[in-house]
Amino acid sequence: MIFRELNRGKCKTYLAISEKTGKAAIVDPLRDKVERYLAVLAYHGWRLELIVDTHTHADHRSGALELSELTETPVAMHRLAPAPHVGIHVEDGQALKIGDEELRVLHTPGHTPDSISLLARDRVFTGDVLFIHGTGRADFAGGDPGIQYDSIARKLFTLPDQTMVFPAHDYRGHTQSTIGEEKHSNPRLAGKSRDDYINLMNNLGLPLPDGIQEALQPNQSDVDAGALKFPTLSQLNQVRQLTAAELRDRIAGSNAPLLIDVREEAEYRGELGHIAGAQLIPLKELPERIGELGDAKGRDIVAICRVGVRSATAAAILTGLGFEHVWNLKGGMIEWKDARLPVE
Ligand SMILES: [Fe+2]
Repeated sequence: MIFRELNRGKCKTYLAISEKTGKAAIVDPLRDKVERYLAVLAYHGWRLELIVDTHTHADHRSGALELSELTETPVAMHRLAPAPHVGIHVEDGQALKIGDEELRVLHTPGHTPDSISLLARDRVFTGDVLFIHGTGRADFAGGDPGIQYDSIARKLFTLPDQTMVFPAHDYRGHTQSTIGEEKHSNPRLAGKSRDDYINLMNNLGLPLPDGIQEALQPNQSDVDAGALKFPTLSQLNQVRQLTAAELRDRIAGSNAPLLIDVREEAEYRGELGHIAGAQLIPLKELPERIGELGDAKGRDIVAICRVGVRSATAAAILTGLGFEHVWNLKGGMIEWKDARLPVE
């Protein structure tokens, strides 16, 4: 397999190419470098077969959707990824074929719930879970330091010591490391218990990245900031959540809520299905179609999507527009279906 790092910057994008077939996978492309990637592929005569985002990025716009549209190549992400453009939803242990080679998926949540690492022969692409001599932060976008510790200690650190580590970021000019080296000298992990790690990560006191909502919201929804005024983090944090079981009970009760499904139409009619009676209003159309909700301002409303991320945005928007009784279906249709509740 041939490997290339394409950005020469703090955000890392990798190409993995099957030498025999010339088929290529790109990992974590940046939107503002899509033309460069296409030029590199064309120059070498490599054919793009797969685009992978290791997780929903909060610090930069992903180039996955644009590359996918330009090259008609599918995007693969973990099944918990919220974005609608993901054509291949992967799970732990799954193999992604690149010609005669493969990328093995390891679900390594903690930085985000949808974080994966990719094992390719002698190396592992670790996304933002494990960095060289560091780890990705776990304090926003569904992060959890304990889960992150488990992903690293119980999954990545069980790979052979000589496995090379290639993270999605490097802020300090590191270019090379191995699983063995990280086990023994990563300052956040070496000699630290799970509780030590959680304590350390909960007390980093880092400011939120600049423009986090401007990158995160479009990456998770495929909606551009021009099309929608995205809610602030504090508005999002105030959104009330309902579990799948709670929603089931509410639907069966006397004052059934109005269900608004904010996914794309293809998802609404796709493999996850939708809840009976749910009204389809894709997130990007919500502001202009608000009139369709008529006199529902006083009614209970539940926003629904794939994993509960886009619908939290919708719930915050509706609340901001004066709808008073709005909830989000926590975990979205994925949790609804995992709970074996009925769909259409
Ligand atoms: Fe990240």
